Amino acid sequence: MLDGKRILLVVAGGIAAYKSLELIRRLKDRGASVPVILTPAAEAFVTPLAAGALANEPVHRDLFDLTRESEIGHIRLSREADLLVVAPATADLIAKMVNGFADDLASTALLATDKLVLIAPAMNPRMWAHPATRRNVAQLLADGIHMVGPNAGEMAERGEAGVGRMAEPDEIISAIETALSTEPALIAGPKALAGRRVIVTSGPTHEPIDPVRYLANRSSGRQGHAIAAACAAAGATVTLVSGPVTIPPPPGVTTVSVETAGEMLEAVEAALPADVAVMAAAVADWRVARAAERKLKKPADGASPMLELVENPDILATVGRHHTLRPRLVVGFAAETNDLVENAMSKLARKGADWIVANDVSPETGVMGGDANTVRILSAEGVEEWPKMAKEEVAERLVAKIAATLDQAGTT
Ligand code: C5P
Repeated sequence: MLDGKRILLVVAGGIAAYKSLELIRRLKDRGASVPVILTPAAEAFVTPLAAGALANEPVHRDLFDLTRESEIGHIRLSREADLLVVAPATADLIAKMVNGFADDLASTALLATDKLVLIAPAMNPRMWAHPATRRNVAQLLADGIHMVGPNAGEMAERGEAGVGRMAEPDEIISAIETALSTEPALIAGPKALAGRRVIVTSGPTHEPIDPVRYLANRSSGRQGHAIAAACAAAGATVTLVSGPVTIPPPPGVTTVSVETAGEMLEAVEAALPADVAVMAAAVADWRVARAAERKLKKPADGASPMLELVENPDILATVGRHHTLRPRLVVGFAAETNDLVENAMSKLARKGADWIVANDVSPETGVMGGDANTVRILSAEGVEEWPKMAKEEVAERLVAKIAATLDQAGTT
C-alpha cells in the first residue's frame, strides 16, 4: 500500500538517526519515494551522502537554498508529500512543533503542512518523562499528530534504561500504513467538494426590541465559519449567511451578513439551489412581535414593559422540507443542555434534516463560544460519537463526511 506514496522524512539530531537510514531503505523497498530533510544536528549522526544514496535523491538541508526557494521549496516539499514522518523526533523538535517555530527547514516544512504527520520520538528517558515533554506530546496528539513509540529498553548511553528508544523501522512502517489507511476518510482533499454548492448559516441572530436593544444568544459563529472555510478549502462554492459576529469572514467564501432570523431565511432562500446546506446558526426561536420604532422609555408609573414574543421561521425546517429546491444533504445542529441524543433525534425528523450535529452546551462544558467541541452525528443510520476536538477539526471531518456521502450517492 506504500507503492507510489511520497513520504517526507524529517530526521532530527539523535543517535537513533542511524535507524532512519534503515527506514528509508525499507520504505523504498515498498515502492515509496522518500524525500529526506536532515536538521543540522542530524548531520552529526548521519551524512547527507548516506541518506541521499538510500533515498536515491538529494537530501534537503537548508531553508534558504536559493534554487529550491525560487519554487518555495519548503512549501512544495510538504505539499507534495502524502505523509510527513519525523524520525527520530527529538525533544527539541517536538517543542518547536508544539509552538509553531519555523527557524530551519525541518520546522518550517512541519509548520507549512496540512498533511498527516507521524512522529517517532527518541530521547533520554528523563527527557521523555519531563513534564515539559509530557505537556508537549499531549498537545501534539491533541493537534491530531500521530505517534509511534517510544519503546522501553536500553539507551545508547551506557547504563541508561527506560522509555525513550525510537520505534523500530518496521513499527514505524506499520504506523505509516495505519495513518494512511484511516485518515483519508477524515480529511477531505482540496478537490473533494469541487463543483458543489454549499450554503452555511452561522452565528446568532439579533432580534430587535427597539432601535438600540435586541434579543441575542452567546453563539460566536466559530463553528459555522470554520465549516464554511473548510468547504471552500475543499473546492466548494460557498455562501455563508452569518448573523452578527466579531470574527472575520472566511477567505474564498461569499458572506452575506444579516441580523434577524427573517433576514437569514431570506438570504438562505436566495442562495438556493445548493447541493448541501449546513445550518449551524443559533437562530433565535422568538422575536419581539412589534419592535418599537423609538427607544423604549421607562414608564412614569414605574411599571416594567412587557415584551410579546412570536415564533421565528425555522430556516433548517424550511430548507429540509423544501418542495422544489431541497439540497441533497441537509445538516442541522442541536446545542442541548440535557437529553442530548433524544432531543437531537426528534429534531432530525421534525426538521427534515439528514444529519444533526449534536453538542452538549450545558454550562459545565463551557462549550458555547469556546474553541473546542464534542459532537455526535445523528442520522437515520444511528449515532456517531466524535472525540473532543477543535472546531476547525470538527469542520474538516464534517466536510470529509459530506464529500464521501455525496460521492457515494453519485453526481446526479
Ligand atoms: O430547534 P433548535 O433551535 O435547537 O434547532 C437547531 C437547528 O435548527 C440548528 O441547525 C439551527 O441552525 C436551526 N434553526 C433554524 N431556524 C430556527 C431555529 C433553528 O434554522 N428558527
